[in-house]
Amino acid sequence: HPVDLEPLKKEAALRAVALIQSGMRVGLGTGSTARYAILEIGRRVQNGELTGIVGVATSEASDVLAREAGLTVEDLDPRPLDIAIDGADEIAPNLDLIKGLGGALLREKLTEIQARRLIIIADHSKIVSQIGEKSPLPIEIARFGFLSTVERLRQIVPGGRLRQPGAQPYVTDNGNYIYDAQLALDGDIAALERQLKGTLGVVETGLFLGMAERAFVASTDGVRELSR
Ligand code: A5P
Repeated sequence: HPVDLEPLKKEAALRAVALIQSGMRVGLGTGSTARYAILEIGRRVQNGELTGIVGVATSEASDVLAREAGLTVEDLDPRPLDIAIDGADEIAPNLDLIKGLGGALLREKLTEIQARRLIIIADHSKIVSQIGEKSPLPIEIARFGFLSTVERLRQIVPGGRLRQPGAQPYVTDNGNYIYDAQLALDGDIAALERQLKGTLGVVETGLFLGMAERAFVASTDGVRELSR
């Protein structure tokens, strides 16, 4: 029978939130795992275990959730964040990540690049031996001329499709579209990132390379702590 991943996600989230101390500026991730972290930070702030916490949200959804949980939320500014806690779609052994299946990759990267420590929380299903093994790579692209940008991307990555859950393409918090690319395995992922970022119409990719310091990965055997 399939394992219920929800308790595992929550367990991983609690381990990461234990790293937060009073007075910290905290990057708040997006997705169903990050949700548990936001709720736990809110709980600790409400009961007085944590004081002086300022959150910076990586999506409209997490902004709303954090405020509902009683957190102070501020916009991103150039000051560093003490810590950021977020989920991921794939975690490689060196803690390179694919992110963005939840659509928040641009704000996540903008926020988490400023974090002194990026802590990833996940259940075991996110672990891969190579980036691209399980998940497509979300690439945020400008809406204007998106068909041309998709053509350019098709020259670089073998397959993929514009994210379109219904009649209209999916629109990000920043008003852009997302192309979900199927990566070839065994490629030079850093070179691919440079090539994608150099492609006209690409706003950002879901490759988070060399950014995460630690990951808490939960399975039914307990929570494993992975470091770079
Ligand atoms: C959001 O854009 C993503 O980067 C999420 O961090 C990722 O999709 C993980 O989400 P879940 O925790 O819901 O799997």
